[in-house]
Amino acid sequence: QNLPGKTAFVTGGASGVGLGIAKALLGAGMNVTIADIRQDHLDEGLAELGGGDNVLALKLDVTDRAAYAAAADAVEARFGKIHLLVNNAGVAVVGPTELATFADWDWVMGVNLGGVINGIVTILPRILSHGEGGHIVNTSSMSGLVPVGGTAIYSSAKSAVMTMMECMRPELESRGVICSAFCPGAVQSNIAEAGKTRPDDLAETGYAEADKRRQNGGSFFHLYMTKEAVGQRVLEGILNDELFILTHSEFLPGVTDRARATIAAVPAKLPHNEEYKATFAMLFN
Ligand code: NAI
Repeated sequence: QNLPGKTAFVTGGASGVGLGIAKALLGAGMNVTIADIRQDHLDEGLAELGGGDNVLALKLDVTDRAAYAAAADAVEARFGKIHLLVNNAGVAVVGPTELATFADWDWVMGVNLGGVINGIVTILPRILSHGEGGHIVNTSSMSGLVPVGGTAIYSSAKSAVMTMMECMRPELESRGVICSAFCPGAVQSNIAEAGKTRPDDLAETGYAEADKRRQNGGSFFHLYMTKEAVGQRVLEGILNDELFILTHSEFLPGVTDRARATIAAVPAKLPHNEEYKATFAMLFN
């Protein structure tokens, strides 16, 4: 990857993980657009990035498809072409699944999966059409790889955006576009404030009481990874064309257990004949 002078578009780029990624990409010589729903985050993020000519801050709700296309137009008007899309904007609500309302599901899936879909449909054709190659990074999570109880909505979205990259990578690699799934563990960020951007029409939550209980649970914030360290790790993952960009070795036992459980669940006897294998060749590689 030859990053200097190329252009990155980072959603949720004005805070936390996205801002850390934006910083690292800027340091690598890229033009960087941070797109975010929160104007206060954009103002602070732009200041933190130094506000130079190679940074653009755009207000964008990734669930708004028309606004997304307009944002992509604005980036192309400013920098010419988009080469790197980082689908990073995300929100979270966690709690017992039976308490979740349709609005809880719709909000989190709408931003964490729907926002990523909007990014792919809007920007992938633009990357392919300029022919200079590119890269797409979906911010998934360790919870996409090692799902835990109480996170069904969030983790469903995160495993979806991870799988999306696994499917798209073999499709696009030969056409010069690399796809990566970024799966961080805990990072210092403002995600606890996600509710502030929740739309009024999706306000009804089943987690109000659960949220109050959690707020009394104390904070381990100081133990979390810094956004700068995470940003550097993503940059490294992009430079190395990594499919899975991981940050936290603590999750190795969970990743191993899940892989072992999957392997153990494969029936020992393979009943398929050669014709079947030939038909479904892509499943037997
Ligand atoms: P954050 O809240 O600090 O940053 C997310 C940014 O996305 C915010 O600036 C927010 O305004 C923006 N955003 C929210 N909804 C949006 C929308 N509809 N359109 C555009 N922008 C929107 O949170 P954080 O932690 O930096 O989250 C970034 C990504 O990292 C998310 O996808 C999250 O799920 C993921 N992640 C975070 C982890 C953590 O420990 N902080 C761990 C694993 C994954």
